[in-house]
Amino acid sequence: MNSSIIKRTCRITAIMAVFFILTNQSYASEEFLSNIRKAQLIHIVKQDCGSCHGMTLKGGLGPALLPENLEGKPILFLQNTILYGRTGTAMPPWKPLLTEQEVLWISQQLKAGKIAEP
Ligand code: HEC
Repeated sequence: MNSSIIKRTCRITAIMAVFFILTNQSYASEEFLSNIRKAQLIHIVKQDCGSCHGMTLKGGLGPALLPENLEGKPILFLQNTILYGRTGTAMPPWKPLLTEQEVLWISQQLKAGKIAEP
């Protein structure tokens, strides 16, 4: 084997390694929401969801979203309502703007009453 082929093979291997590292990182960031993204999501819930559900989630055009109101409603039910909206009501689908993982996290925070702390 001549040395230029070895060099080229090394270079291709290095490029592939970098590619795998980068793509793996983007998978990881989808699974684990960063603290910055969590702060943004809380802001979205208070401002955007709050425009209908009330800034403190005590209800308005949409129903209250406090833990006592969501008792007995499964996370998956809330997650689907947020992702796909409710046809025939003012509740819009958020799938174009939020990932499933983000909506799952929001649903968990709503159930736990961790967004609208006084
Ligand atoms: C334009 C007004 C509007 C906006 C904005 C809105 N909602 Fe709603 N939402 C509603 C209405 C109205 C309902 C009740 C639908 C029905 O009658 O079943 C509802 C229902 C829900 C429910 C189901 C509650 C239950 O007790 O079953 C959840 C959860 C919910 N919204 C979460 C959200 C979240 C999270 C956001 C922001 C990402 C959001 N909503 C933004 C109007 C809105």
